Amino acid sequence: MGREISQVMGHLGAEWLERDTRVQEERTDLLMDFLLGLDATVVADIGVGTGYFALPWARRLSRGRVLGVDIQPEMLAILTERAAEEGLENVEPIQGAIDDPKLPVAAVDVVLIVDAYHEFSHPREMMEGIVRGLRPGGRLVLVEYRSEDPFVFIKDLHKMTEAQAILEVEAAGLDWVSTEDFLPQQHVLVFEKPAT
Ligand SMILES: C[S@@+](CC[C@H](N)C(=O)[O-])C[C@H]1O[C@@H](n2cnc3c(N)ncnc32)[C@H](O)[C@@H]1O
Repeated sequence: MGREISQVMGHLGAEWLERDTRVQEERTDLLMDFLLGLDATVVADIGVGTGYFALPWARRLSRGRVLGVDIQPEMLAILTERAAEEGLENVEPIQGAIDDPKLPVAAVDVVLIVDAYHEFSHPREMMEGIVRGLRPGGRLVLVEYRSEDPFVFIKDLHKMTEAQAILEVEAAGLDWVSTEDFLPQQHVLVFEKPAT
């Protein structure tokens, strides 16, 4: 759809995802507040990495569960180990495929994708799987670095414009709801699965 796909960030980048400065650079605390404000019991973090968002989400969703999907077993091993260390029993690691997030059908209230969509080698198939996994009325929260902003100093392939993200996600059958620009460097795009 007119976009060049980036390479996957290898598991050796795990420490970078957990860097101390991330909260200030990306205001991940604001994103977490936003996620906690959504009405959700079953959530899925696709491209979960080390669980930077999945673990705090699981801590707060005491009666819900977090499905953490990744294609790299090494990332899932880190997620599993960290969840066990904290005694979190509501984190479910899922070994995804490059073209299938392997979500349960029509079971997920909110899907989160942070800095991962631009890496999906099969974005259309991944989105088909995400749409299948969302319950009717369920939401996708897509977070990507803003390509329109020259002051976001990230490689071009690791950024997306709002227009491109909407084009690709709507083509998969979700409705765009809003773009929340409360983060310093990233778009937060919210989409919904039609109720019928
Ligand atoms: C840059 S990391 C971001 C990790 C996490 N979302 C965060 O913000 O800390 C991108 C992750 O997406 C994963 N990924 C790439 N393609 C994927 C796919 N098709 N399905 C699931 N995960 C994928 C990579 O393995 C990597 O762990």
